[in-house]
Amino acid sequence: MIREVIVGTRTPEGDTHLAPMGVHEHEQTLVLAPYRPSCTLDNLLGFNQAVINLCDDVCVYVGCLTGRRDWPMVAAHTVQLQRLRDVPAHIEVEVERVASADSGRPRFYCRKKYVGTHAPFAGFNRAQAAVLEAAILYTRLDRLPTGQVQRELEYLGNAVQKTAGPREQQAWDWLLEGIAAHPGAARK
Ligand SMILES: Cc1cc2nc3c(=O)[nH]c(=O)nc-3n(C[C@H](O)[C@H](O)[C@H](O)COP(=O)(O)O)c2cc1C
Repeated sequence: MIREVIVGTRTPEGDTHLAPMGVHEHEQTLVLAPYRPSCTLDNLLGFNQAVINLCDDVCVYVGCLTGRRDWPMVAAHTVQLQRLRDVPAHIEVEVERVASADSGRPRFYCRKKYVGTHAPFAGFNRAQAAVLEAAILYTRLDRLPTGQVQRELEYLGNAVQKTAGPREQQAWDWLLEGIAAHPGAARK
């Protein structure tokens, strides 16, 4: 199973860089697979620690994609990174092995060093899932036909309309704004 999380990696300057990523568990190991090119990939090749933020605020996912990166952070316990302050849980990891390092999508096998639990599971929300799906569409705007994007947004928008709270609505609005500003938006 793949979980969508916010991964924190260390930049050459020592800052923590945040990006939405999928992570999957393989026999006690967490596997990250960032595509080339990406800052997360470069950072992981340069520094072998990361923070997996189990974040339930969709504004952070969409914000990282749309240039809103200033989220409250605190120091991690066992790695030289910061973690998101307001998350239900986070995992600090160390990269043990990199597979297919020269490919378009290397795989980083990470050992858990520390798991922090900060708040209980709040339950599923359809708008959150819809925003994440739309955020994935946003990252593929260059490759997807505009008609398909519009059809999928229309479908996903139903769940947002019916079940969103203020954070989900805000993230959805940021996405629509970003999609409208994309060079392909005028095409139908
Ligand atoms: C929910 C979600 C999951 C994502 N999972 C991945 C992933 O597993 N690998 C990847 O390369 N990009 C993934 N992306 C896209 C990256 O977040 C996006 O390309 C981002 O711009 C990369 O950031 P970076 O260059 O700052 O590292 C995902 C995006 C979203 C919204």
